[in-house]
Amino acid sequence: MSRDYLHNAKMVTVADLRQLKQRGEKITSLTCYDASFAALLDQCGIEVLLVGDSLGMVVQGQISTLPVTLADMVYHTRCVAQARQRGLLVADLPFASYADAAQAVASAALLMRAGAQMVKLEGAKCAIIQALVEQGIAVCGHLGLLPQSINRLGHYSVQARQPQQAQQLLEQALAIEAAGADLLVLECVPADVARNVSRQLAIPVIGIGAGVDCDGQVLVLYDMLSISVGHRPRFSKDFMAGQACIADAIAAYRDQVKSGMFPGSEQSY
Ligand code: KIV
Repeated sequence: MSRDYLHNAKMVTVADLRQLKQRGEKITSLTCYDASFAALLDQCGIEVLLVGDSLGMVVQGQISTLPVTLADMVYHTRCVAQARQRGLLVADLPFASYADAAQAVASAALLMRAGAQMVKLEGAKCAIIQALVEQGIAVCGHLGLLPQSINRLGHYSVQARQPQQAQQLLEQALAIEAAGADLLVLECVPADVARNVSRQLAIPVIGIGAGVDCDGQVLVLYDMLSISVGHRPRFSKDFMAGQACIADAIAAYRDQVKSGMFPGSEQSY
């Protein structure tokens, strides 16, 4: 498959993502923090570019996402927006920037003005999601492992392993959809739990460490390129292995997600 998708560049929309889900075609997403990678991800046909607060770890060298500020997110969103032509640009609302609806709308407005087309927030905060949607802001929910709650969780581990927790996750996912979210990220949950959520929701579900049966996949870009410092999570994979250049590694990721080859059982729970 060719690496260059930009000859027929058309901006990816929320409606396109829904159509991909309806057609059973997997959605590809990667995190992205700067203009050079935004251009490359677009060239490789990655549909969703996520300016994730994981930049706290992989760009800033912090031990968690908690030190990332709204100003940091605005800066990186603007960098990505400068070069992005096709992929849907989603930006994380960082820690403590959406404590109530008014703060969430004000924070999201800064990200949108920097070029985001959708904002992502952690947890089943349905009233906040509804308030954002009422302002015309597209929202991506995030359930399962919630890195902004690491100090309450204690460690980064697989969530919703027990049937009761899996049922609660499903109910929260349905509530997030009912609140008006257009996309949901599921992080670090058993594959069968994620499969059930993906089937029950009309909106696309993008997994990270959530098995192959989600509607799409996302990874932290620097982890899959093996340029992150330290340990790579089990659910990620070294896509640079055997590739001549970064664009080939990203194209391999895209092809393996589209064909259902990635994630395999070794990257799933
Ligand atoms: O910040 C991030 O990179 C994310 C992904 C883990 C989905 O939210």
